[in-house]
Amino acid sequence: MAKDRGDPNGKGLCRRDFMSTLGVGAVAVAMTAGAANAAQQTNDQVVKAGQMVKVELSVNERKRVLLVEPRWSLLYVIREVLGLTGTKVGCERGECGSCTVLIDAVPRYACLTLAVEAEGHEITTLEGLMHGEELGPVQEAFLEKDGLQCGYCTPGQMMAAEGLLRKHPSPDLETIRHGMSGNLCRCGAYPHIFKSVALAAEKKKS
Ligand code: FES
Repeated sequence: MAKDRGDPNGKGLCRRDFMSTLGVGAVAVAMTAGAANAAQQTNDQVVKAGQMVKVELSVNERKRVLLVEPRWSLLYVIREVLGLTGTKVGCERGECGSCTVLIDAVPRYACLTLAVEAEGHEITTLEGLMHGEELGPVQEAFLEKDGLQCGYCTPGQMMAAEGLLRKHPSPDLETIRHGMSGNLCRCGAYPHIFKSVALAAEKKKS
């Protein structure tokens, strides 16, 4: 009976078996070490509560390197860290539109966006619509057409209008109504808001 070819006595392990057992053991040890390293790396990546992470944000065409908590909203960082208070706090749950900013030229609710998510994208706030100390065309149009009453929602309305006009430079009334539908005005100044957007479209072309 061919029992262990290198072990004529049939006792214990032959040299070949012994060497291959060593090989398996070495692989097992290596794998265990690898798994331990991977686990350590994963642990190193875990951010603990209250721990800050570095983000690089581009706000109004200016690079800002900041330490933020991963749970902080873009709204909080824009207002409380960068001091850009043109962006308003409303419902903080994606219903009112007061916090609207542009992310890559598209209107977004800053209250529903984490600051860390905005890294690598261009963020535009109300301050970014200014031309130096001069009002931009959307801001001028809201002023001229009285597109506000109490004014609290107005920054968000202006950002939504800016985003709308970048996509639709010549919107009809239906397009304006649809484009502005994510921004509530509790004063009900909608007719004037829509006229402001239409005027802003003309101003942007001139
Ligand atoms: Fe963000 Fe109301 S504050 S939608």
